[in-house]
Amino acid sequence: MFQTRLTKMLGIEYPIIQGGMLWLSGAELTAAVSNAGGLGILSSATFPEKETLRAEIRRTRQMTDKPFGVNIPLLPAIKPLDVYGLIEAIAEEGVRVVETAGRSPEEYLPLLKKNGIKVMHKVTSVRFARKAEAIGCDMVVIDGFECAGHPGEEDVSSLVLLPAAVDAVSIPVIASGGFADGRGLIAALALGAEGILMGTRFMVSREAPMHMKIKEYLTGLPETETTLVLRSLRNSARVIKNSVSSRVLEIEKQGATIEELLPLVSGKKEKELMDTGDLEIGLLHCGQVVGLIRDIPAVAEIINNIIAQATEVRKRLQLQH
Ligand SMILES: Cc1cc2nc3c(=O)[nH]c(=O)nc-3n(C[C@H](O)[C@H](O)[C@H](O)COP(=O)(O)O)c2cc1C
Repeated sequence: MFQTRLTKMLGIEYPIIQGGMLWLSGAELTAAVSNAGGLGILSSATFPEKETLRAEIRRTRQMTDKPFGVNIPLLPAIKPLDVYGLIEAIAEEGVRVVETAGRSPEEYLPLLKKNGIKVMHKVTSVRFARKAEAIGCDMVVIDGFECAGHPGEEDVSSLVLLPAAVDAVSIPVIASGGFADGRGLIAALALGAEGILMGTRFMVSREAPMHMKIKEYLTGLPETETTLVLRSLRNSARVIKNSVSSRVLEIEKQGATIEELLPLVSGKKEKELMDTGDLEIGLLHCGQVVGLIRDIPAVAEIINNIIAQATEVRKRLQLQH
């Protein structure tokens, strides 16, 4: 059911992907998604050395015999990742799909291709989708303006960006940003996508390693409770509104430098927030779709519910027409 070019290319049951998430997508979450018929993706930024990533890949393998991928963020960073080392570990451990984001993966494609690794590159504009196809990526993920993390600087929502990208490229397009349920899956397929990728929905799952207090807080939020920070650096990030995001916006308005912003926006603070349940410690990446999320189910339940609801919606549409 819901077989697409994506499910065939990746050898998965359902066209549902869990996007790589810093601090959250380790072995437990990744394996849970893959075991439930989707594609789980490990976050290499959480395991940034070749050997720590290798160990996490092996741990994931012990929990699932289904396909899973690894995310490699390519955004400029204070401490850049050893991307070649990470790819070596990925290839040596037999992982067959990589999700790249943040910057063109062109430099790494020869090594990835040589090792038979499929590349899905996550982009925020039609221009970058075309580029991804031109350089030889196998799939392109379209992150609409609603998404958690980095929505780019052009502010086009999934409803327009997705079909525009589908019209522009012939490789499979995956919809990302704003998806959480079966209605969303059917809408994405209707717009020409071959599947959906979700972050926020899987963040609010039983398996995500985040304090229950934060998950419960998120289930009560309306869709208006996220904001964009770091636009002044042209590195916009969608996060929950809290005292830290307010402070960041305030000092950005006053022309703050990277050095002034860094202590507030550091990933370490986000980890502390996730571990302690104290929402005022740092920033928390989150998409607008949080406004549709009202429960904290196990990953398998999330995926089963999406497929059940999508099946219902499809039936309803067939009956109406
Ligand atoms: C807490 C969190 C951390 C994330 N970390 C990463 C990351 O390390 N690399 C990446 O490419 N995307 C990251 N993302 C973005 C997701 O992979 C995905 O593109 C996005 O969540 C999709 O939008 P949605 O939240 O509306 O589903 C993160 C998202 C969240 C919620």
